[in-house]
Amino acid sequence: MQDSTRAGARRSVDVLVIGSGAAGLSLALHLASEQRVAVLSKGPVCEGSTFYAQGGVSAVLDRHDSLEAHVRDTLDAGGGLCDEAAVRHTVEHGPESIQWLQELGVPFTREPGDDGRVQLHLTREGGHSHRRVVHAADATGKAIENTLVEQVRRHPNIELFEHHIAVDLLTSHKFGLTGPRRCLGAYVLNLKSHQVEIFAAPCVVLASGGASKVYLYSSNPDGSTGDGIAMAWRAGCRVANMEFMQFHPTCLFHPSAKSFLISEAVRGEGGRLLLPDGTPFMERFDPREELAPRDIVARAIDHEMKRLGADCVYLDISHKPADFITSHFPNIHERCLEYGFDMTRDPLPVVPAAHYTCGGVMTDLAARTDLDGLYAIGEVACTGLHGANRMASNSLLECLVFARSAAQDMGLRRPQPVPMDLIPAWDESRVTDSDEEVVVAHNWEELRRFMWDYVGIVRSSKRLQRAQRRIELLQGEIHEYYSNFRVTNDLIELRNLAQVAEIIIRSAQSRKESRGLHYTLDYPQTDPALAGRPTVLTPPGSPA
Ligand code: FAD
Ligand code: SIN
Repeated sequence: MQDSTRAGARRSVDVLVIGSGAAGLSLALHLASEQRVAVLSKGPVCEGSTFYAQGGVSAVLDRHDSLEAHVRDTLDAGGGLCDEAAVRHTVEHGPESIQWLQELGVPFTREPGDDGRVQLHLTREGGHSHRRVVHAADATGKAIENTLVEQVRRHPNIELFEHHIAVDLLTSHKFGLTGPRRCLGAYVLNLKSHQVEIFAAPCVVLASGGASKVYLYSSNPDGSTGDGIAMAWRAGCRVANMEFMQFHPTCLFHPSAKSFLISEAVRGEGGRLLLPDGTPFMERFDPREELAPRDIVARAIDHEMKRLGADCVYLDISHKPADFITSHFPNIHERCLEYGFDMTRDPLPVVPAAHYTCGGVMTDLAARTDLDGLYAIGEVACTGLHGANRMASNSLLECLVFARSAAQDMGLRRPQPVPMDLIPAWDESRVTDSDEEVVVAHNWEELRRFMWDYVGIVRSSKRLQRAQRRIELLQGEIHEYYSNFRVTNDLIELRNLAQVAEIIIRSAQSRKESRGLHYTLDYPQTDPALAGRPTVLTPPGSPA
């Protein structure tokens, strides 16, 4: 038989980190004094959501604020579904996480306080009862990511593999090894050489970000395709709370803006939401008006747009002095000017877009998943922090806190070596190059459109049923395609998106109430009996 396997390199490291955002890079830095770490990114190293984060990182740093208030606000926003232990763990480690970033050299914005001393400037965002968001003007993610990358590149124990996309996890049960199920590494497609390589490691960390690209309109970069969630699911791990997909209320409405985000900090600093005729409307929906949590603001905008048949609403901060606007929001101001809008003078046209995946791979407080040796940190994980709705700027904080927790746990492990000789090379003996790439492109488009139309901000049982029928059909086609053709970046992502879409639809169907980000016309009320009951799905055949 002709051997058409294009097997790539075999590598062995102490820890394999899949993802180079705030979560993955922080973890690598915590581990590198003791361990050899490989970090993968499927595109250029900076191309994850972290780089695009605007508002900032929440932490209790003001003497009028308290850890208790941060905990309370997070629980409140989370609609009765947060795990209080996870909330406390995250909030309590907030201040030291900011301290660590400052020591690495992240250039956070500093301004003179009430007493005239220069200190970190804290901005406000929805759901927060105090000013507690540390930021680097309006490009906080870029400042954090650039600093972390610089540190990682300097470290001799960390090797960065850009343009390497993990395809699937290597697991002992898949290879028929006896003993407890454990993770052994990953098959990884090198996007330059087109070979599938083996990365063997006794500790593997999913730090692969969220899945907001499952929707047609999203604030996220193209790579947010839920790869880590899908890989963990296929490896037998439980996934939780996937019906809670967060829509950011204010992305710029412009055909070529590709969902450019207008930070919640604009509302935090006094921006008002207006109907097309200039009337404010948020007071009709929540006493906190523009600073209500995101689920409420996004639903209010959706409601008003549908009621009026409007393409967008408007966000206006032009009543503030121009130099205040340009110094606090230099990046947003400049980008809006490129699209023909001057926010110092005019209201900005805005619409909601998919922004954040509150659910994910279930973990404990040490970021351990159901599979021994497999950890999940950052947006890919469901730690219990966010519950039914994430509060603004709690996500970067979660990345930092759980990266440290995972590193501490790994330091305590005495991992068994991975039996490299038992891991078979990637087998391509039964596949050929695709001659129908159009199928992949078409299915991407179709999936993201029906998810937007049927599983979006407002759902109904009928819409979810329609989505379920479509995803079953698509998954059949994608499975057939995957079995017959060589893997490519687009095919890997499409397969993962379809898996995640199916999980979102099933999770939404199972929640017979409206809570947080999950709103359905058929069950518009919150059912008190379901408080504290996350939606947990278990993959077929898993012992979990
Ligand atoms: P990411 O930063 O998304 O990184 C994911 C990494 O995984 C990338 O390196 C990617 O290449 C890699 N990857 C994915 N799949 C694979 C694979 N199969 N193989 C190899 N590598 C893979 N949160 C806040 O707290 N404050 C904010 O102000 C804020 N603003 C935001 C603004 C925008 C526009 C967006 C999109 C999000 C914002 N968020 C904010 C959310 C926050 O940025 C993200 O939740 C957080 O950055 C996620 O970090 P992460 O490390 O988990 O993943
Ligand atoms: C923003 O700046 O509005 C985004 C903040 C977040 O998603 O936490």
